[in-house]
Amino acid sequence: MTAAMEDSINVLEAYPMKGGDGPDSYAKNSIEQKVVVDATKELLSKAIKEKLELDMFLPFNTFHIADLGCSVGPNTFFSVENILEAVKFEYQSKGPSSEIPKFQVFFSDKTLNDFNILFNYLPQNRNYYAAGVPGSFYGRLFPKASINFFHSSLALHWLSRVPKDVMDKNSRAWNKGRIHYSNNQDEVLKAYQSQYAEDMECFLHARALETVHGGLIVLNLLGLPNDIPQSHHLIGNLAIDILGSCLVEMARKGVISQEKVDSFNMPCYFASPQELEVIVERNGCFSTEILEALPQHVSKHGTPSAPTFRAITEGLITQQFGEEILDDLFSLYQQKLEEQISIAESKKSAVIFVVLKRKTN
Ligand SMILES: C[S@@+](CC[C@H](N)C(=O)[O-])C[C@H]1O[C@@H](n2cnc3c(N)ncnc32)[C@H](O)[C@@H]1O
Repeated sequence: MTAAMEDSINVLEAYPMKGGDGPDSYAKNSIEQKVVVDATKELLSKAIKEKLELDMFLPFNTFHIADLGCSVGPNTFFSVENILEAVKFEYQSKGPSSEIPKFQVFFSDKTLNDFNILFNYLPQNRNYYAAGVPGSFYGRLFPKASINFFHSSLALHWLSRVPKDVMDKNSRAWNKGRIHYSNNQDEVLKAYQSQYAEDMECFLHARALETVHGGLIVLNLLGLPNDIPQSHHLIGNLAIDILGSCLVEMARKGVISQEKVDSFNMPCYFASPQELEVIVERNGCFSTEILEALPQHVSKHGTPSAPTFRAITEGLITQQFGEEILDDLFSLYQQKLEEQISIAESKKSAVIFVVLKRKTN
């Protein structure tokens, strides 16, 4: 790892979720993501009970928590409450109450995230100090050994960028007429896989520097069960494919240019537990305490509805095609989703629950 990488804070940033608190905002259209926060609450508490080291170093006698990819709320507040409840319980039940630390929570997302809305809705009765940290989680966000507990839910499938080759007309990976690797064209998939591996390497490298020894990282990742081909992924091969076909149809009708469709790709990748394990091991700074794909009935994560998918992708789409196409695009998406929803049964998706502990040497 180069020194430049070590200190890189200015990692490329794409568009965040739809801000504000209007009807199309992420704040009003993220109930589907809350289902995952709720479904993993018990696993999170159990992991904290079994893995938290109560004698780890607390900077300023304060337990530091960071939620990465917090977006605009309210899900991040639920995640933080779940963490706090479980951590406090451990301190309460294993030590004298005078030893319960203070809590500092860092809400972190890309600089363009709507932090005003986030702070506007901060719970009034919170028992923690709150701060916002802007920047990409693929770069450094915090000082060395300063965070006791990192958390991130449904954010790390976003790559730092669209893989370069996918947009290069002279490359075998050029993804003309499609917006993702979903149909398993080998070269395109390989380009996404190597971008993901590179990004996760940066993520783990930065977190390894920032996590207190013995500290934990807990992640809910949107991925794929082991041994299921990428062509069977529920989101890649239903939601993203449908979005792609809507864009192609609009280009055919002359509403948008074909060239813009050819140069538009979704910067996301859905990894399997096996792929993740290799990356964590290569990094070497964390022990893998838990890394498992939750069965779909446990995570209850399904196909994103049109309003949710719009709140997630609107920024990216506006950047490429302008905002005037949004209403038509998503009503077409809604229509196609209804026509094709029966395919969902044959597709797979998984929330991968990960607990990593920072090694002490
Ligand atoms: C689907 S939202 C999930 C938000 C929240 N954790 C939840 O459960 O509702 C994904 C979030 O990850 C953020 N994100 C994506 N890539 C990021 C990056 N490189 N650095 C920081 N945040 C990122 C997005 O801006 C977005 O707010």
